[in-house]
Amino acid sequence: MGAVMTKQLIVFASGTGSNFEALADHFDRTKTAKIVALVCDQPGAPVLAKAAVRKIPVYPLDYRAYPSKAAAEAALIAKLPACDLIVLAGFMRIIGATLLTAYPNRIINLHPALLPSFPGRTGIADAFNYGVKVTGVTVHYVDAGIDSGKIIAQAPVLIGPDTTLPALETAIHDVEHQLLPQTIEELIKEEKI
Ligand code: GRF
Repeated sequence: MGAVMTKQLIVFASGTGSNFEALADHFDRTKTAKIVALVCDQPGAPVLAKAAVRKIPVYPLDYRAYPSKAAAEAALIAKLPACDLIVLAGFMRIIGATLLTAYPNRIINLHPALLPSFPGRTGIADAFNYGVKVTGVTVHYVDAGIDSGKIIAQAPVLIGPDTTLPALETAIHDVEHQLLPQTIEELIKEEKI
């Protein structure tokens, strides 16, 4: 039997970082993977403190400091440690061609709706306001479009007659915190990363 390798993950996040935290806690337990870096585009985002307490190195991504998205991404790639998978967990920017080319089929995204329904930044509220009775969570590969890459995993969340938007948000986040680590575990098991 070959040696079990710990996969190296880089997480991109912009905000709260509850999914970053769920991933870090999960892989602290299983040791099948390790978060080797956090990329964050928002100075002061709460996710930064979550990385600091775990001693996970942070790589800021400041698109405004460079003449183009390509230049910003090239500068980032030059600094990042080696990794098996990039995980967008609440990263609110569109990944450019430079990163996509550098990590072919190695960037996945978490989306808080059942794609292809309700892509974009406000998937939870859009599903709620539309009045669907089932929404959920999607993990998919990232391509050049908005939430349009190949779907890897989905999980449903029911919207009942008494479900409020805040209750739906909580339910979606609870499912996200399970589905994202589980999906990465599956990719590792199936030797897709
Ligand atoms: C998640 O709902 C994710 O699906 C969406 O942004 C949210 C990030 O939450 N893209 P957090 O920062 O992980 O708490």
